[in-house]
Amino acid sequence: MSLQRGRAFADDTETLIDRSIFSDPTLYKQELGRVFARSWLFLAHESQFTKPGDFFTTYMGADPVIVSRQRDGSYRVLLNSCRHRGMRVCRYDSGNAKAFTCPYHGWSYGTDGSLTAVPDEEAAYGQALDHAGWGLAAVPRVESYKGLIFGTWDTDIPPLTDYLGDFTYFLDALLDADDQGVTSATGVHRWRMRGNWKLAAEQFAGDMYHAASTHLSALIAESPHTRGMRLPASGFQVSLRGGHGLGGFGPYPYWKLQGFTAEVEDWMGSFFERAAQRLGGARTTDSVLVHGTCFPNLSMLWNRWTMRVWHPKGPDGMEVYSWSLLPKSAPPAVRQALRFDYQRHFSASGTWEQDDSEQWNYSTNSNDGFVAARLPLHYGMGADRGPNKDFPEFPGTVDTIYSEMNQRDFYRRWSELMAVPHPAESPASPATAAPLSDNAAKAVIA
Ligand code: FES
Ligand code: FE
Repeated sequence: MSLQRGRAFADDTETLIDRSIFSDPTLYKQELGRVFARSWLFLAHESQFTKPGDFFTTYMGADPVIVSRQRDGSYRVLLNSCRHRGMRVCRYDSGNAKAFTCPYHGWSYGTDGSLTAVPDEEAAYGQALDHAGWGLAAVPRVESYKGLIFGTWDTDIPPLTDYLGDFTYFLDALLDADDQGVTSATGVHRWRMRGNWKLAAEQFAGDMYHAASTHLSALIAESPHTRGMRLPASGFQVSLRGGHGLGGFGPYPYWKLQGFTAEVEDWMGSFFERAAQRLGGARTTDSVLVHGTCFPNLSMLWNRWTMRVWHPKGPDGMEVYSWSLLPKSAPPAVRQALRFDYQRHFSASGTWEQDDSEQWNYSTNSNDGFVAARLPLHYGMGADRGPNKDFPEFPGTVDTIYSEMNQRDFYRRWSELMAVPHPAESPASPATAAPLSDNAAKAVIA
């Protein structure tokens, strides 16, 4: 099996996946430019910032960036790499700064990225160093959706709301369920694990099928609240334009199965009643939204109140940044209950998180074998079924729980992007970055 250029699929019906997309180092390098540098990427939640100079460091693909709050309340997103030798100018996770001073030789940048001071400049450079041309590279487009800050290096793709498309219908059930919205719990969990990032993103996009097997021991351990629980028969997968996908169940009071106190259960019940008045019942009380992925690497669990980004770290590794989001209107007891519930299940030490990460680790490892790499993977579940008519108000294409439609559509979007070389790729070696052309550099280094 060898990957046909730019396609994840190994067959014409697009139900078989070529395993090399999970392990090939050349494809990985191409992915950074063709997929990540051409998509809107989630960076941070606005509640992480309160005053000018507040910053948060993260990644866009493999590029480290600083999200920096400006005096006017806007955000600059700066490549976290000094223009002198490339050193990371900010090595903190978050904080407040008046300047970002590189630890290597001491070049200093303002919170807007401009080069403001160079040690011993007269002796070292005389008048030869043009400060205006040597600031930190800035992400050219930064936009927010209801508190979620995104950035893209691509000056040509549609605005963020168009990119999100109908995914916002479901995002609103998390971000805008009442008039106060959500806030991020203090601190972002970060951890590294083995496994190709796409395995995590595709699972969150559309894989309900794994839960009963992968999480069986955790389900049993959580007795008495969930012992014997099976997947509800009624449910859905939804595929949306742009490679976004999500899934969930028919209605049931999920918060009554999580071991909460009566006070928390009552508040949750009234919260969803209020949400239904605001947003309608389809995505609040008449269904339970569970898992989803906003292409390419932002995923969320509505019923565990978490969002996470799968940052690529080579073809066989990823770093997870995970947020616990909480309704601002919730009293302290509810916030604590939701935070602990997230932490118990989906933080670095979460039981369900560890269940999943084992699968991604060993799948990636096996996919790289000489013989294994030549055998395609089966992604055909539900390919011969019609639409699921049980959830008529949902936008997009709706199928049942037992469907890999979302994964197939995720890889169709991935394939579309991978089929077109990034302008900055070297023609001689697609995996090698060529110097940016003047125009591209102007777009990147604002
Ligand atoms: Fe930053 Fe030299 S690498 S000042
Ligand atoms: Fe899982």
